[in-house]
Amino acid sequence: MIIFRKNHINDNMKYQDIIQSLAIVVKERFNGESGGHDWWHIYRVWQLSKRIAESENADIFVVELAALLHDVADWKYNDGDEYAGGKAARYILSEYSLSDQITDHVVEIIDTLSFKGAGVDTTMKTIEGKIVQDADRLDAIGAIGIARTFAYGGMKGRGIHDPEIKPFLHDSFETYKKSDSPTINHFYEKLLLLKDRMNTQTAREIAIERHQFMEQFLSQFFREWYIYQKNDSIKNQ
Ligand code: NI
Repeated sequence: MIIFRKNHINDNMKYQDIIQSLAIVVKERFNGESGGHDWWHIYRVWQLSKRIAESENADIFVVELAALLHDVADWKYNDGDEYAGGKAARYILSEYSLSDQITDHVVEIIDTLSFKGAGVDTTMKTIEGKIVQDADRLDAIGAIGIARTFAYGGMKGRGIHDPEIKPFLHDSFETYKKSDSPTINHFYEKLLLLKDRMNTQTAREIAIERHQFMEQFLSQFFREWYIYQKNDSIKNQ
């Protein structure tokens, strides 16, 4: 169990003070994290959430809290407990004087947030949830998304690419969670699907360029890979 420090907290904090305090707590928690879920991922999702929220009629306080806490105990790091994030978030937020309504809303967003497989519904109920989900999904695609995907695959001991293992569209959270397929497959199982799953117009617009860049990366990757396939077939003749 991670122990969170209480020394930044008092009862009379205003909105910005709470956000700043929470950012410090989360930054300490994620210090030294690898696998693409480091503090700078949280920071990008936080900043991107604020930017998307500018065009939406949303409670910015809930958006910022949920963005900062969205990966605080991701199921990928908690032996598959998909509710670990919500529990950890509730524990951290209990240190602040927040209403139950705000805490429950943030916890619900965090529990619903993760992508759980291509065919598994993770529809967010509120605009605040939709915004944080969009920001998290945008950080999973494009150049940063590519870097994070290979960092995560390496941490999990997965290979880069194996032409004998085909991508698999998971229709259940159980099979997605257990998947140990090579990292390139992850583009087809998740990352290339994300552009059509954005909730807000702002995110859809940002997603276009990032999606195109991934397609460009994959076509170059396979162009380079193909040279070796050709050599194999020459050797086998
Ligand atoms: Ni995330």
